[in-house]
Amino acid sequence: MTLIDILAASIWLMLPAYLANPMAAVFGGGTPMDLGKYFPDGRRILGNGKTIRGLVAGTACGIMIGLIQIGLAPRLMASGVLDNWPLFHGALGAYSFSTLSIVFLMAFGALLGDSAESFIKRRLDLERGAMFPVADQLDFVLGAWVLTYIFAAYWFNTYFSFWIILTVLVATPLLHLAANILGYLIKVKKEPW
Ligand code: CTP
Ligand code: MG
Repeated sequence: MTLIDILAASIWLMLPAYLANPMAAVFGGGTPMDLGKYFPDGRRILGNGKTIRGLVAGTACGIMIGLIQIGLAPRLMASGVLDNWPLFHGALGAYSFSTLSIVFLMAFGALLGDSAESFIKRRLDLERGAMFPVADQLDFVLGAWVLTYIFAAYWFNTYFSFWIILTVLVATPLLHLAANILGYLIKVKKEPW
């Protein structure tokens, strides 16, 4: 695999998680996931930046892109564009339960990781939207990995090789920064991080 192959495979694998996050920002709003409740430390559990609509819409968008990817994979393979790029468990059947669960775990895990970060931010007395470097850029990656590692360990171990993991860890913060600046410019996000 060349570096470009590894980068492309990394993005391909992470796409449902990558999309879930910004789509939560696009469609989010309304009732917060913590229902406005406070933690014993007197601060909000998650805060108003984590909403039920964001969680549901973000997960749905992540699943949607995953389904498109699964549909495209055989064509891309046939046309030679996808060669040894990893797929969403094509081996288990394109739209099998295992494949669909993986897409769900990646999208939902991403938003769970994002919420876990908000939980930590609130404990550290950081306001909604406050910058929390590194965690802001990797929370959703870790969330997606933790869920797939727990519930789809075989898939995770098959596709997330050392080099893919390293590439994701390096490329994600850069992609995240670029996406957030774009989100800020088109006024979907309040802060450019
Ligand atoms: N969002 C949402 N529901 C989610 C995740 C995100 O509605 N589960 C929306 C919110 O409008 C949020 C925006 O997406 O403000 C950007 O997400 P993020 O940067 O993660 O939230 P912050 O506002 O920065 O809040 P926090 O400090 O808790 O991270
Ligand atoms: Mg934020």
